[in-house]
Amino acid sequence: MTSWPFGSWREVARQSNLLAPDGTLASTIFAEMSALATRTGAINLGQGFPDADGPVEILEAAVDAIRGGRNQYPPGRGVPELRTAIADHQRRFYGLDVDPDREVLVTAGATEAIAATVMALTGPGDEVVVLEPYYDSYAASIALARATRVTVPLRFPDYALDVDALAAAFSPRTRLVLLNTPHNPTGRVLTEAELTAVARLATAHDALVVTDEVYEHLVFSGHRHIPMATLPGMAERTITISSAGKTFSVTGWKVGWMTAPAPLIDAVTTVKQFLTYVNAGPFQPAVARGLALPDEIYADVAARLQAGRDLLVAGLLDAGLTVSTPAGTYFVIADAAPLGFDDGSQLCRQLPQLCGVVGVPVQVFHDDATAARSLVRFAFCKRPEVLQEAVARLGRLRPGS
Ligand SMILES: Cc1ncc(COP(=O)(O)O)c(C=O)c1O
Repeated sequence: MTSWPFGSWREVARQSNLLAPDGTLASTIFAEMSALATRTGAINLGQGFPDADGPVEILEAAVDAIRGGRNQYPPGRGVPELRTAIADHQRRFYGLDVDPDREVLVTAGATEAIAATVMALTGPGDEVVVLEPYYDSYAASIALARATRVTVPLRFPDYALDVDALAAAFSPRTRLVLLNTPHNPTGRVLTEAELTAVARLATAHDALVVTDEVYEHLVFSGHRHIPMATLPGMAERTITISSAGKTFSVTGWKVGWMTAPAPLIDAVTTVKQFLTYVNAGPFQPAVARGLALPDEIYADVAARLQAGRDLLVAGLLDAGLTVSTPAGTYFVIADAAPLGFDDGSQLCRQLPQLCGVVGVPVQVFHDDATAARSLVRFAFCKRPEVLQEAVARLGRLRPGS
């Protein structure tokens, strides 16, 4: 069968740069690079998933929930103990007051929270401001809503927010600012001054702010994650999205959530209930258990990740690349131009042969691919011995080695 000529898929593919000029559908770069890693035996630092389990307490809690018979549909907004744990978490870490019954919605990962939010709150003619580079589901969600993406560039190596460019991105049609901090793929953690600038502009244009904070606990020494909802006056116009996947190294569980004023939760629930209705029944009480774990567990996850970052950053520098040292997340961006590689996509296809490692070209996170021509993203959410081996292999890129 030739490709289906109707429906939304074509626009989603086009907006996500998956439609070739001849109309054929390309696979995502993540699928392509993971397949390349499998085929060549290269170390996969492309996709961002940990290769070790997180805290044993939450794994045990999931087993208990399955054995204890919690295997049917949970309530539409999430099991009460998880909604309460999310509200407690927001109070404990950020001093935010959230009503677990009216201001929390549990979703199928942060991905569903983002898609349902954008679809519920925007439509044709509406504009959504996003930082560029951006996580790939943002473009697809905006396309599904038939809204328009307006991007604000962050630039290597400091990835600071250009407030003038941000101001220029707003228009009378701006409905949402879709923000991500700590930021994938750059590892940037937005500062209070930057968040204040976003808050000021969103308020002036009567826009809502959607903040994707899935890496909220993966922040390294010297940096602090500040939720947008903690800024003065912003809780009433902010939708905060997070997920258990990154914090507890359970990316396959797909337990996400959002907190927002009750009318916004009602609007998003209206859409969400017809996407998945509910998911992850036995994992929801397990995540509730995880959110209540003591501070040391959270600190330990971040500390181990920071050690991984330090190892990989040192290795990349030693191999002769330029690096933007990340303040948080799973990822580091490196520039291969000093080694004479000026096309990151081409380099990523050659990397397994050159040194037995896989990364992803940063171009795929950009509308303006020229902004990231020679940049490659590597994930460091891997065991120390895997990163040590990756660093040894990356050393083969060093001129003369
Ligand atoms: C910035 C960002 N948002 C959302 C997600 C998706 O989260 P989940 O797996 O909970 O859907 C990811 C996963 O990589 C991400 O990097």
